[in-house]
Amino acid sequence: MNGTPPTAAALPTLPAYPDPATDEVLDGGLLHELAHAFGGPFHFLLPHRFDANLAAFRAALDDAGVDGRVYYAKKANKAAAWIERVAAAGAGVDVASPGELREALGHGVRGEHLVVTGPAKHEELLRVAVLQGALIAVDTLDELDRVAALARAGAARPARLLLRRLPPAQPHSRFGMTAAELDEALTRCVRAGDAVRTEGFGFHLSGYAIQPRADLAGHLVDLCLTARARGLRADRISIGGGFAVDYAAAGDWHAFLAAQRPRHYHAGKAFPAAGFYPYHSPVAGAGALRAVLAAVPEGGRDTLAGRLRATGTLLLVEPGRALLDRAGSSVFRVQGVKDRDGYAILTVDGTSLSLSEQWFNSEYLPDPVLVTPAGRALGPGVHPACVGGATCLEPDLLTWRKIPFPARPSTGDLLVYPNTAGYQMDSNESPFHDLPLPPKVVLDGAGPRPHWHLDRRPPH
Ligand SMILES: Cc1ncc(COP(=O)(O)O)c(C=O)c1O
Repeated sequence: MNGTPPTAAALPTLPAYPDPATDEVLDGGLLHELAHAFGGPFHFLLPHRFDANLAAFRAALDDAGVDGRVYYAKKANKAAAWIERVAAAGAGVDVASPGELREALGHGVRGEHLVVTGPAKHEELLRVAVLQGALIAVDTLDELDRVAALARAGAARPARLLLRRLPPAQPHSRFGMTAAELDEALTRCVRAGDAVRTEGFGFHLSGYAIQPRADLAGHLVDLCLTARARGLRADRISIGGGFAVDYAAAGDWHAFLAAQRPRHYHAGKAFPAAGFYPYHSPVAGAGALRAVLAAVPEGGRDTLAGRLRATGTLLLVEPGRALLDRAGSSVFRVQGVKDRDGYAILTVDGTSLSLSEQWFNSEYLPDPVLVTPAGRALGPGVHPACVGGATCLEPDLLTWRKIPFPARPSTGDLLVYPNTAGYQMDSNESPFHDLPLPPKVVLDGAGPRPHWHLDRRPPH
């Protein structure tokens, strides 16, 4: 069956939510000019969307009457534009490497507005974090000792700590400390005296479920009370990231999942449906934070928001993907078109290393949009094609799925992958084959011809 071409009309699709502001850009001619200027793929960024997402997270905290802080998880996208927006808004950044720390400080984020996460952190990262007064999410007992030693060895201020909890419901996670380890950590924090300031506890959960986050947050509030009874400050908890992004409408997503078969993909490739990102989420972004705050942690009677207020506990969140929702797209130029049994294989001028989902044995599913020099290709035609990268690697496909494009793609047309800022653009990028890394173009303002500039301007 896999070798039989599917009838084109039956090919499943997954359109991203309509986005009129992005469509104006696609129809306005700017992208072809930029593709000509760069001579390769590029990403465009919409920082005003990041601002709106950040404001929505802050509003969720305010509306619940909860004191808190939003830290952008920098790993989700390397652009400087986001950090500049964070700095301007007085928000925070979650960094996990010396490079990310330098970037955040270099673009104006204050040291005390940083949270440092990740396992067994590099000595340099810990040293600068202590000197800058950043909050350090301590992952192990020996890391706690290293941080305390660094603080004693010359920092003019105590090291600010969160103790990271191993989620009891995810006992195989390699992050965080068990209950017994946390107990020992509290003893060591007390013993460390003024060298450390134990500000509270944290976790990051895999998945996007609401209730487990509220449950574990409730547990962390209890831990804060225990720590306070031992004389420690413990006035905040971090619930990490993992606020879902809603890419596509419920009907489209469920129809896609029900319809998709290996024959709808080049070479009959089968992707396990369970491995797909949940491209539709009824509760997403700042709405997911609202839901966590409104949930009642297990064993209690009050909502999480109520419990945080009653105990004077601050809530820290570290969203990555959700702050980048609809804040950027990726543009590739069609470099060649080859016909196969009932569909075309397109080759574009970049690689799947600039669309990271492939590297997790999955596929980025929101449909790419075909943009001709006259604007978006629209209409009732059905011209199926998969999308390969410009490398000699057989598995380098940006899209294995046969996308039913409304016109036959031609060399020189553009393919625009929507909503790629969260993790897709650059987490796996590589200059393989000496291909240049796709530059990032920041679009300022709205309309078909916005002003633009490179994310990283030439150094002064
Ligand atoms: C500690 C921590 N915080 C925040 C995040 C960001 O998660 P997301 O982009 O899903 O919000 C991650 C992601 O791995 C993480 O490990």
